[in-house]
Amino acid sequence: MELLKSVVGRKILMAITGQMMVLFVIVHLLGNSSIFIGPNGINSYAEHLHSLGPIVWIFRLVMLTLVLVHGIFGIIVSLENSAATPSNYALKNRKRATFSSETMIWTGLLIAIFVTYHILHFTARVMPDIVLSTDAKDRFDVFKMVTISFSLPAIVAIYVGAMIVLFLHLKHGIQSFFQTMGWNNDRSLPVISRVGQVLAVIFLLGYSSIPVLILAQFIK
Ligand code: HEM
Repeated sequence: MELLKSVVGRKILMAITGQMMVLFVIVHLLGNSSIFIGPNGINSYAEHLHSLGPIVWIFRLVMLTLVLVHGIFGIIVSLENSAATPSNYALKNRKRATFSSETMIWTGLLIAIFVTYHILHFTARVMPDIVLSTDAKDRFDVFKMVTISFSLPAIVAIYVGAMIVLFLHLKHGIQSFFQTMGWNNDRSLPVISRVGQVLAVIFLLGYSSIPVLILAQFIK
């Protein structure tokens, strides 16, 4: 509770919850890559996940808590920052600010909207473009559901657009974690900054490649 009372404490909480979500983004990208193996790859991956039963629900609760804590404190920290920054100080520090760092609150809100849409789309499967069917082994056909949805340019545009927003958020977010934790100095900062950018690019290209390659009929 003491942690929540100080500005630094709130930032540390945001940094830790943010990095835990980055771990999810890495694991989810690896899991989604099973689509490159073909229908059997992603359908058996999804079946294994669902067979974990209660563990899936514990994981979902943990994720929801992370999203809420990160989001609520993100709004608080952002309001505190704009209230506490005198304008001449802000001007002097302008060169350190980037488009990515200045738009964290907006890219964060857009990612929250995307994740809500994405869960209604592929997890709850309540969107009109979703096709529900089973494969030859009588498993739910995730491959068919995903490939039919991504044959629609509008859906591909939503996903690629969201991945660009995720890229902007993580480009600043990953390096910001190390700064908040104090794990940076003048020598390591450029390296950390570069690692954050490379990871953000890998997420952008990795995630976007799935809808784009399906639309281009390389995956079918
Ligand atoms: C092209 C990109 C993506 C594809 C193809 C994709 C695919 C999927 C699929 C098929 C599911 C349903 C899994 C199942 O219930 O069997 C799912 C769930 C989910 N995805 Fe994605 N995903 C993508 C990007 C993302 C991104 C960037 C995020 C986060 C920023 C994300 C977060 C989630 C979450 C939170 C769930 C719900 C997990 C659960 O069932 O509790 N996804 N995704």
